[in-house]
Amino acid sequence: MRILWRPFGFSRLLKVERCNPTESELLIPLARTALTQKLRKAPCIFLLGQRKRVSTMPEMETNKSHSELFSPPSDVRGMTKLDKTAFKKTVTIPVLKVRKEIVNRLMQSLRRAALQRPGIKRVIEDPEDAECRLIMLDPYKILTHDSFEKAELNILNQLDVSPQIFKYNLELTYENFKSEEILRAVLPEGQDVISGFSRVGHIAHLNLRDHQLPFKHLIGQVMIDKNPGITSAVNKINNIDNTYRNFEMELLSGEENMMTKVRENNYTYEFDFSKVYWNPRLSTEHSRITDLLKSGDVLFDVFAGVGPFTIPAAKKNCTVFANDLNPESHKWLLHNCKLNKVGQKVKVFNLDGKDFLQGPVKEELLQQLELSEERKSSIHIVMNLPAKAIEFLSAFRSLLDGQPCSSELLPRVHCYSFSKDADPAEDVRQRAGTALGVSLEACSSVHPVRNVAPNKEMLCITFQIPAAVLYKNQTIKLEDHEDPPVKRQKTDDAFSEEKREIVSNT
Ligand SMILES: C[S@@+](CC[C@H](N)C(=O)[O-])C[C@H]1O[C@@H](n2cnc3c(N)ncnc32)[C@H](O)[C@@H]1O
Repeated sequence: MRILWRPFGFSRLLKVERCNPTESELLIPLARTALTQKLRKAPCIFLLGQRKRVSTMPEMETNKSHSELFSPPSDVRGMTKLDKTAFKKTVTIPVLKVRKEIVNRLMQSLRRAALQRPGIKRVIEDPEDAECRLIMLDPYKILTHDSFEKAELNILNQLDVSPQIFKYNLELTYENFKSEEILRAVLPEGQDVISGFSRVGHIAHLNLRDHQLPFKHLIGQVMIDKNPGITSAVNKINNIDNTYRNFEMELLSGEENMMTKVRENNYTYEFDFSKVYWNPRLSTEHSRITDLLKSGDVLFDVFAGVGPFTIPAAKKNCTVFANDLNPESHKWLLHNCKLNKVGQKVKVFNLDGKDFLQGPVKEELLQQLELSEERKSSIHIVMNLPAKAIEFLSAFRSLLDGQPCSSELLPRVHCYSFSKDADPAEDVRQRAGTALGVSLEACSSVHPVRNVAPNKEMLCITFQIPAAVLYKNQTIKLEDHEDPPVKRQKTDDAFSEEKREIVSNT
């Protein structure tokens, strides 16, 4: 057995030892024991001599085992102030010794077997022989030369490489662990580590649980270290219940600057994240609504924020009336319209939603609906303030005077709401109907947007405002205003029972 020392990677010292195949049964005792235990516990895994089966372990099992061998030293448990030096650890890795000129050809065929760790080179110089290289192998896939698959052995044979396995002492440092491995090692055993965070430009936005709070600064620093481009980590310190829906947040680590820039669906938005609402989880919903719009349509964005409905709509050549009560959102909305070069297509307001509906929206609707029959475009009203938007629907009641326009021209509302009900779609339909004073059962569709918390859904109800609601002194049959519903939650019989003549509540 020879012992060689050589600098590697982050100027660390490494040791290579030769061992014969029988000895390699004992190559990684700790890893093997852990692996064998895992295999015994795993259902549907057939243990045959235990060695060969490693190569056919399902992905999940492989990953779990990796997290044991490649987990930081146990004495980092409970650390609240990050000490990167405490993460040093040496693990024994199998390596294959090959002539340097065949490395590239061989690596293509050894992808499965090669070691894959952050910051670890898979091929290093052979400290003993300048003409050779060492290929680092995955200790959970390769224990002895028997662990190679047939195709791998064939290529080794073709290239005249001995499948003999050597062992190599590899020093891991903080840089070589993944954030999840670091936090799992530090936080109390058996409790949740951070499952994820929202990324808003350079900011990692976390929502820490109570048991994670003693480690909050360390967690913030790990997020910054392990996620390129993240330079600030903040924690939400209460639920969003303020008027402007921006988060109250605490800086955990990194720069205090909350002025940020994000890209969503190919558009750019700039804003101060501490002062306005922004949720990266809504990008799909923003594009779903934008996809419904055609060039020439009119969009009223009642709770516009910094513009994620407004800007794509204006880019589609819609005329947009965008409003937000928060002066900061209003400021950034204007800024983002200019930034995305749609200033000409958007009129921006800083009003309460009700005043916006009863002022600029009413005025514009009167003009738009007068154009009536020759108009091919549609009118859309987006109301994304899920905690309250339904309450604003009553502003549509008797908003307009005069003769109703034809039903296909009536404005289409997309109104968001949360629901904790067992039947969220029905709950939202009923509450929206109550606010308008009509049943929306047969003339609305409800789209599930996202699960906000256990038992709390965010939904979007879409409907055309019935003329009986929008115009003063109307008495009409609801059936006259029914469009084919996009999605019905009930059977047709149940719907027909609810069709009835209604009188506008003026
Ligand atoms: C949930 S955010 C939605 C922002 C944006 N539409 C989006 O999708 O990201 C709701 C917005 O409504 C604004 N807001 C809250 N109350 C309002 C009100 N009474 N009138 C108008 N805007 C309001 C908030 O400032 C916030 O920007």
